[in-house]
Amino acid sequence: MFRNKTILDQFSALETPFYYYDLDLLGRTLDAAKRAADKRNFHVHYALKANYNDRILEVIQSKGFGADCVSGNEVQKAIDMGFGADQITFAGVGKSDKEINTALHHGIFAFNVESIQELEVINTLAGQAGVTAQVSLRINPNIDANTHHYITTGLDENKFGVPNSELEKAASVLRACANLNLVGLHFHVGSQILDMNVFKSLCVKVNEWKTWFEDRGTYIKVINVGGGLGVDYKAPDENPIPDFEAYFDVFDRFLERNAQQEVHFELGRALVAQCGSLVSKVLYTKSGIKKHFLIVDAGMTELMRPALYQAYHKIERIGEYQKGTMLNYDVVGPICESSDCFGKEVELPISKRGDMIAIRTAGAYGEVMASRYNLREEVRYVYAQ
Ligand code: LLP
Repeated sequence: MFRNKTILDQFSALETPFYYYDLDLLGRTLDAAKRAADKRNFHVHYALKANYNDRILEVIQSKGFGADCVSGNEVQKAIDMGFGADQITFAGVGKSDKEINTALHHGIFAFNVESIQELEVINTLAGQAGVTAQVSLRINPNIDANTHHYITTGLDENKFGVPNSELEKAASVLRACANLNLVGLHFHVGSQILDMNVFKSLCVKVNEWKTWFEDRGTYIKVINVGGGLGVDYKAPDENPIPDFEAYFDVFDRFLERNAQQEVHFELGRALVAQCGSLVSKVLYTKSGIKKHFLIVDAGMTELMRPALYQAYHKIERIGEYQKGTMLNYDVVGPICESSDCFGKEVELPISKRGDMIAIRTAGAYGEVMASRYNLREEVRYVYAQ
């Protein structure tokens, strides 16, 4: 994608580093997801935490997605960007009173509640505001998503959701809370999941819990199964759009439900990861005894995933080059930390100061996780239609 010379000419005039967002690919990805979801009457809330860049949100909102938020500011942002309050969910283990009040004020669709204490706090605040809060109970399904341990969320040892052992108590607290209306159950097992069996296991567990509640006379209208669908970091050009059909099909086949029950999703990464790349310029090249370094002007401050999770991102040279003159480089940034490294032994054409590279699949959890560490510049971005 970044091999042609035209793109190099366009980029040469811009100050690096910057995020490059391909809005055409974003649109096609969203259309594919929406088509596959609509066909099955599934509702998709976009997880803002993956990327809340204005233009990206505009496109996502215009395609009719709901919003999944994890802070009061994200709820406000979703409202400001035109997402309907009735399509907004608010999750998170540590919602502050201020954030809860923001969400109550806007009358969002549902709080995904993560503890018994939180149920009680939302009940009190809703009472004070004179409103009824709609809640979904987040249950920790204790499923191993087999992904990086930092992004596994559905295990007993993780801080998320109400554990099985507390369900009985949660159900009775819910009955006692006059200002709460239980709309559904919420689950989320982790992120960057490519093995569809993980989602199948989730469905099996969800069915059990739904029955558990129904046996006790509690009707569950909404089953929210969270997000987590992964993308192909290794081959972004070959697989730019995730297989939404296969993903939704698992839930369609294995989730037991009647015609009135709704299935909701909270996809982040799968919708936005492939449309973004971090573009950077080579500042210096350096060769040690065993190593060749490419020192680029982007760092962990712009894209933290490799430093934080040892995440792989494909790195490629922008523009045309002669095949056959390749070298293995450690591609590193300018930040004063050894972990500021985008990739080790990356095969690239022999490079010189001023050459440009693209770090691919950076549309999700890239720009939003940027920091000003080392008093770096605010991260920049450009869009291509
Ligand atoms: N719903 C809940 C409750 C979540 O915790 C998350 C992500 C999502 C939905 C969206 O998941 P997705 O569809 O994007 O997998 N910073 C990490 C990823 C953290 C994910 C946190 N939760 C990374 O860069 O890989």
